[in-house]
Amino acid sequence: MDSTELDSFRQAGKIASKIREESKRLIIVGESLLDIAETVEQMIKEEGANAAFPVTISINDIAAHYTPEFESSLAIGEKDLVKVDLGIEVNGALSDTAYSIDLSGENEALTNASLNALELAIKTIKPGVSVGEIGGVIEQSIRSAGFKPISNLSGHMIKSNELHAGIDIPNIKTSDPYQFKEGDIFAVEPFATNGAGHVEDLEQVEIFSLYMPSSIKMRQSRKIAEYVVKNYGTLPFAERWIRKEFKSRLLVSAALREMLQSHLLRGYPALREVGRGLVSQFEHTILVTKDGCEALTR
Ligand code: CO
Repeated sequence: MDSTELDSFRQAGKIASKIREESKRLIIVGESLLDIAETVEQMIKEEGANAAFPVTISINDIAAHYTPEFESSLAIGEKDLVKVDLGIEVNGALSDTAYSIDLSGENEALTNASLNALELAIKTIKPGVSVGEIGGVIEQSIRSAGFKPISNLSGHMIKSNELHAGIDIPNIKTSDPYQFKEGDIFAVEPFATNGAGHVEDLEQVEIFSLYMPSSIKMRQSRKIAEYVVKNYGTLPFAERWIRKEFKSRLLVSAALREMLQSHLLRGYPALREVGRGLVSQFEHTILVTKDGCEALTR
């Protein structure tokens, strides 16, 4: 990676950090989820950046990948455990960061479990350490706090224009041998739960991304596909973003369905904890340095 590219990653990290902190004041009882997501996405635009993916607001036993639908009327509940996950794109460079807020005041130990696991992982990552070992560090940290890590969610390598660049950081100990190298960029995101320790797909899908921007042939979907290519490339987007542009619910959902069926699109279903446990998550994007790592979203 050259220094210009690295500068963009640093910039993406800095903006993500600023918006993450500013967004926390929006997480209050009764606030509309759609208003929160759109406000945060607006804040990103005002920084002159793009959202690397739709802002997700996953509550209680929903672990990840939930973003409000178009015209959603859902609001934050009195005792919700709210996870906000956001990402920034600057010149193709991406950042990814998340936090949890427990509005009940009763689940501090659970939110601390994922936060402490994240901090310990960041302290441990350096060149030569394997991703499987970091999974072990995360697992051990969460279990010692009396909770379970979510075994089928993981952190991920990030490259320019590629949010999930092939290598994962598991949240449990594995024999995955990939060793961190200086210059690598990863999102580290421990998830802790008082439930079963894994998630399953819900039927609801609000987030999609294109596999192959070049191979759209269907007439009806082409306009929407072209819009996606132009605005998001292969980065994840929300159905509500497309609805805003194309208005018709029927047209948009038919086109997305068609593109899913012909494997031009992948969907990211909302993920729910299997034991219906509460889930907490914290996340930073890190740069591996000569002898450690640096959190770009600090
Ligand atoms: Co994230």
